[in-house]
Amino acid sequence: MTHKAIQIIRGEHAALSAMLRSILLLLAQHRRAATLPDFAALRAMLFYVDEFPEKRHHRKESELLFPKLRARTPMHRELLDRLDLDHARGEARIRDLEHALLAFEMMGESRRAAFEDAAARYVDFYLAHMAMEERDILPLAEKALSAADWRELDEAFTANRDPLTGAEPEAEYAQLFTRIVNAVPAPVGLGAHPGESVR
Ligand SMILES: [Fe+2]
Ligand SMILES: [Fe+2]
Repeated sequence: MTHKAIQIIRGEHAALSAMLRSILLLLAQHRRAATLPDFAALRAMLFYVDEFPEKRHHRKESELLFPKLRARTPMHRELLDRLDLDHARGEARIRDLEHALLAFEMMGESRRAAFEDAAARYVDFYLAHMAMEERDILPLAEKALSAADWRELDEAFTANRDPLTGAEPEAEYAQLFTRIVNAVPAPVGLGAHPGESVR
């Protein structure tokens, strides 16, 4: 049986991948049609990609999973360092992308290509990051962590409530995800929902 913590990480990766791919599809669609995209929809998509990994996903990995792995095994130390660095730089990267979007919205056509390039680079970076975690880190965790580690992780991952609102942040983000995919026109907006497999 797969551990709950692993299921949660994979489910969040699937939701993020769906959103990232939708951004590129939306941009390609508007380039072909020579139309300007719905900037409010793009802003909402970047907001989701900004908030959800920064506030929830990276913290689960960098604060809960990776330290346990470092304590249990010398394997993949450099990769873990690199993934932690990606997490630390994530906020600046998405901020740059949001600025490029603002430039496109304010200045129009002359900034389209710059935003498309920045979006493509960001999506490549993020998909590669998640692929490394799934290919190397999660299987290593399944081998190296003890039953007690998993009890602790599964509990921490499932009992992760927002102390300020008392709400379940994952549920709030899932609602946001659904609102965004429903607001974006077909075929881009027919994304899978968090928790569903999109691959
Ligand atoms: Fe990560
Ligand atoms: Fe991740």
